[in-house]
Amino acid sequence: MKWTTHIFVLMASALCLGSATSLPEQSLREASQASGLLIGTAVRPAHLSETEYASTLAREFNMVEPEDVLKWETIHPERQAFDFSQGDQVMDFATRHNMKVRGHTLVWHQQNPKWLTEGKYTSTELAQILEQHIKTVVGHYRGKIFAWDVVNEAFDELHPGELRSTIWRDQPGIGLATNGTSYIERCFRWAHEADPQALLFYNEAEAEAVNPKSDAIYAMVRDFRQRGVPIDGVGFQMHVAHQHADVASISANIKRFTALGVQVQITELDVALPVNAQGNARPEDLQLQADIYRQIASVCLAYPGCTAIQTWGFTDKYSWIGSHSKQTQGAALLFDRNYQPKPAYDALRNAVAAGRP
Ligand code: XIL
Repeated sequence: MKWTTHIFVLMASALCLGSATSLPEQSLREASQASGLLIGTAVRPAHLSETEYASTLAREFNMVEPEDVLKWETIHPERQAFDFSQGDQVMDFATRHNMKVRGHTLVWHQQNPKWLTEGKYTSTELAQILEQHIKTVVGHYRGKIFAWDVVNEAFDELHPGELRSTIWRDQPGIGLATNGTSYIERCFRWAHEADPQALLFYNEAEAEAVNPKSDAIYAMVRDFRQRGVPIDGVGFQMHVAHQHADVASISANIKRFTALGVQVQITELDVALPVNAQGNARPEDLQLQADIYRQIASVCLAYPGCTAIQTWGFTDKYSWIGSHSKQTQGAALLFDRNYQPKPAYDALRNAVAAGRP
């Protein structure tokens, strides 16, 4: 090789190296821009003062959802008192960082205050309390929260396909206990009156695949759409356990729901892994986890009506999976406890960057 060729080869490889290392890495939210997919995460306002928490959140996501602070026990601590302070903190952060806010949740059987659950109210009183709650909370965030999980987990785990027995349905309920899903319908109508622009979702656990629970939700949503009940979407939580997601069935399920003309959003995605006493997962499980994140993102992207993927937190430092599983499971999210991206992060980002087929 002549010396001039040597120099040429050296320069060319230097250029290649240069371009490879200087290529700006796209964040998740940047990667999602072309497809318009919303990329969200659940947040806890107590951590927003932690620099790495706040910077990772703002850099990677274009949507947030308060993980707990819009639930009754926080936002409605006494019968006549509402406390919006923590919800407003999340809202301020989102506004400053140009993020959308999802609301979670107006009607649920958990995380309710004692004044409500032990108040021995009549159905008439409960109906008044619930209407006031929905209208006050949705009204407070009118024009700010773009989508609400109006009702969460109304279908039963033990008797799949049946409605769960709750304070809102039949214990004693808001007066519609014998009318199937009409108590749910009432909630959607109240929410719609309070903010006609907000998108209203029904959110559910373990209904992501085709199964008796999702069959029952499908029947409800089809009925609501036919009768003009204001429902805009269905949220599938997607807490993946046992390192397994039935992707073909999830795909068929998203297909049938979006065919009804409602949006589907994946609202609480995490993939729990077995962890040791230090909270660490096995490397091979982290790869499996990455693959599950990738597959779920691809399934959502395959349907234009699947409009958001939201993870239930983003750092393994703060995730509900630990306490939920008595610390036997964990490492479920995209970033490790030091805010370093995991294989799942790369997998999700690459899938999102590939866009819709
Ligand atoms: C969980 C939160 O992540 C925890 O911080 C809280 O202690 C309990 O609730 N389905 C839902 C969420 O709809 O609201 C739950 O969030 C997780 C399961």
